[in-house]
Amino acid sequence: MKPIIAPSILSANFANLAKDIEMVNRSEAEWIHIDIMDGVFVPNISFGFPVLKYVAELTNKPLDVHLMIVQPEKFIPEVKALGAHTMNVHFEACTHLHRVIQQIREAGMQPAVTINPATPVSLLADIIKDVYMVLIMSVNPGFGGQKFIEHSITKVQQLRKLIEETGSKALIEVDGGVNLETGARLVAAGADVLVAGSAVFANENPEQMIHNLRTS
Ligand code: DX5
Ligand code: ZN
Repeated sequence: MKPIIAPSILSANFANLAKDIEMVNRSEAEWIHIDIMDGVFVPNISFGFPVLKYVAELTNKPLDVHLMIVQPEKFIPEVKALGAHTMNVHFEACTHLHRVIQQIREAGMQPAVTINPATPVSLLADIIKDVYMVLIMSVNPGFGGQKFIEHSITKVQQLRKLIEETGSKALIEVDGGVNLETGARLVAAGADVLVAGSAVFANENPEQMIHNLRTS
């Protein structure tokens, strides 16, 4: 099975976002990945809803929205208003994760839970059947262009096992340091969706890179 590729526009050229979004539109990427940061949950701030409104208008790909913010449930209406397909919230940011997942589903989006590098896969046992997808962070969230954390491969294998044992239908997504080499190993370990920022947008032929990531 070919992985779903979700280019992360965090690494796009913000002075000419439309050009980069049109490239993603033409490409074999299935989704477009949107990183929202608040400077509290992660030590960085990216972009907010006024900018994303235009991104949403320009793209013809489903929006995969990754919220690196505290209390993400406060923004369910705003994410819904963008027309998001998937809403990813961090396990570490939700005291009442089960409730938040239900609220996202009730709002008509696919709920996904994201875990940081230090959060074990085993903590997902009681939520795995309720989520559309699990996002494994393979870098500490907050910045593009960081080095892949090797242990993420083991976490993908552990998550694949948990999904099989529980009969969950959850997809496995990985985000951070994905390139042709790590991407191929992640897919072999059981990943369904690869997020790639700098590997795509720093490449001189990003469309070709998306194709290569999908087929590597
Ligand atoms: C990091 C973000 C990622 C980021 C990945 O906090 O969640 O989506 O854009 O960038 P690369 O692929 O460059 O590691
Ligand atoms: Zn992300």
